[in-house]
Amino acid sequence: MSSEEAQLKEEGVIRASVSFPPELLREFDELAKSLGYRKRSQAICDAMRNFIVEYSWKEAQGNVIGVISFIYEHETGAVAERLLEVEHSFNDVIVSTMHVHLDEENCLEVLVSRGPAERIQKLSNTLQSLRGVKHLKLLTTALVK
Ligand code: NI
Repeated sequence: MSSEEAQLKEEGVIRASVSFPPELLREFDELAKSLGYRKRSQAICDAMRNFIVEYSWKEAQGNVIGVISFIYEHETGAVAERLLEVEHSFNDVIVSTMHVHLDEENCLEVLVSRGPAERIQKLSNTLQSLRGVKHLKLLTTALVK
């Protein structure tokens, strides 16, 4: 083992050689720098962790956390009543709800949910399909072991 390999092993890291399109790397470095990263490796590690959480979420066994946010016009159709019905029928996964009256017409709702990924995805799709609901985002966060 060379002294460099020994040093890396001590730090708990592996050096890997990866190829990037130059433009992609330039954009990545610029953004990482503006976000305050001092080392490219740190930014790449964070990007890889996000990638893993993003793509392993749906296949996850057991419970996951999903944060669903959306805006709705409370006077469109019966959206407020329909939302209440949906939220009550998914009370097995909804942990907490926050409601903000944005202006005369618009409300923002944020739901924190915990449970099987499939069930949370279904909740998200059901909400998205309601008339009057717009800008829905499902944020998938850390897996719950
Ligand atoms: Ni409101």
